[in-house]
Amino acid sequence: MRILITGGAGFIGSNFIRYMRSSHPEDQIVNIDALTYAGNLDNLRDVDAKQYAFVKADITNANEIEPLVEQGFDVIVNFAAESHVDRSILDPSAFVRTNVMGTQVLLDAAKKYGVKKFVQVSTDEVYGTLAPDDDAFTETTPIQPNSPYSASKASADLIVRAYHETYGMDVNITRCSNNYGPYQFPEKLIPLMIINALEDKPLPVYGDGQQVRDWLHVWDHCAGIDLVMRQGKGGEVYNIGGNNERTNLDIVRTVLKYLGKPESLIRHIADRPGHDRRYAIDARKIRAELGWKPRYTFESGISETIEWYLNHREWWVAVRDGTYRNYYEKMYGARLGESRF
Ligand code: NAD
Ligand code: DAU
Repeated sequence: MRILITGGAGFIGSNFIRYMRSSHPEDQIVNIDALTYAGNLDNLRDVDAKQYAFVKADITNANEIEPLVEQGFDVIVNFAAESHVDRSILDPSAFVRTNVMGTQVLLDAAKKYGVKKFVQVSTDEVYGTLAPDDDAFTETTPIQPNSPYSASKASADLIVRAYHETYGMDVNITRCSNNYGPYQFPEKLIPLMIINALEDKPLPVYGDGQQVRDWLHVWDHCAGIDLVMRQGKGGEVYNIGGNNERTNLDIVRTVLKYLGKPESLIRHIADRPGHDRRYAIDARKIRAELGWKPRYTFESGISETIEWYLNHREWWVAVRDGTYRNYYEKMYGARLGESRF
C-alpha cells in the first residue's frame, strides 16, 4: 500500500508513522508536513528511511500538494491541522486556513489523481459539550462545535462528507477523544503538567478543574485509524475512545502523585472562554464493525507516558524554544499572576 500522511511530524502523525512501520513494514509512506511550531522532525528520528520519505509542504498550497499526490497513492490520511483550542481562541484564522481550506485542497488533489481512500482524522470536539448525565457521543450525535478549533474541524468534516456524497469518493472520518502519550507538544494538558511538575513550577488548572475528558493512549488511536483506513466502509464516521473519563484535577493529581510532588503546585486560574465541560465517546461502532479495542488501560498508559517524559528531557527542553516561551507568557503570564481561587 502507498500511503500519504499529512502532519506526520506532529504528535499523533509521528506516532502513526511509528505504528505503521512496526505493524505494516511493507507499506510505503510519504509524510508531508509544513513544520509549524508543532511539527518536529526530532519526533521521527528513530524512523528507518526504508519505505519512508519526508517532504516539507503546506496542505493549503495546491501547487505544492498536487505534484505530490500525482505520484499515486492508495490512501491519504489527513492529520495536518492547527490542533490547540487555546491558540484558536487567540487567533482563529490559521485554523480556518489549514483545517478547512487545507482539507479541501487535499480532497481536490485526491479526486483529481484517483486516490482510493481519504481518511480525515477528526475529533470528538465537533459534537460540543455534554452535561454530567448525558449519554456519550455517538456518530449520529448532532455536530455543535463551541471553539474556533472545533468549528474548523467540524467544517472540514462536512466538506469531506460532501465529497463522498457529490463525487462518490471513498472517505472516512474518525472522531477521537483526548490523546496522550510520547511526543505530545507541551501546550496540551498532560505534557504541560508533567514538565511543570518536574521543574516545580505552578500547574495552571482552568476554573474549578472539574471538566471531564475521555483519555486514550495515542497508540490505541493509531490502531483505530489503521483499521478504518483498511476496512472502513465508504462514507462512514467512526468514533474512537477508551472509556476513560477523568476530571482535569484527577489528571493533575495523578501526575503529581507519580512524580512525588506536592499538590500545593496546583493553581486554579481564569477559565478558558467557551470551555466545554465534558466529552465522552461511545466507541461501540468501531469495536463491533472493525474489531478495534484499546491495548492500554489509563493506569498503564499514564505511567509509561510520564516515564517517557522523564527519559526524554532533551526532547522537551528543545521544543520549549523562544516561540514556546512567548506563547506560555501570553497564555499564562497574567492568569497565573492573578490566581483567583
Ligand atoms: P499537532 O499539533 O501535534 O500536529 C499537527 C501537525 O500538522 C504538525 O506537525 C504541523 O506541522 C502540521 N501542520 C499544521 N499545519 C499544516 C499545514 N498547513 N500543512 C502541512 N502540515 C501542517 O496535532 P496532533 O495532536 O498530532 O493532532 C493531529 C490530528 O488529530 C489533528 O487533525 C487533530 O485535530 C486530531 N485530533 C487530535 C487529538 C488530540 O488529543 N491531540 C484528538 C483527536 C483528534
Ligand atoms: O478531544 C479531542 C481534543 O483534545 C483534540 O481535538 C484537540 O486537538 C486536543 O488539543 C484536545 O483538546 P482539549 O482542549 O480537550 O485539550 P487540552 O490538553 O488543551 O486541555 C484538556 C483539558 O485541560 C481542558 O479541559 C482544558 C484543561 N487545561 C488545559 C491546559 C493546557 C487546563 O486546565 N490547564 C491547561 O494549562
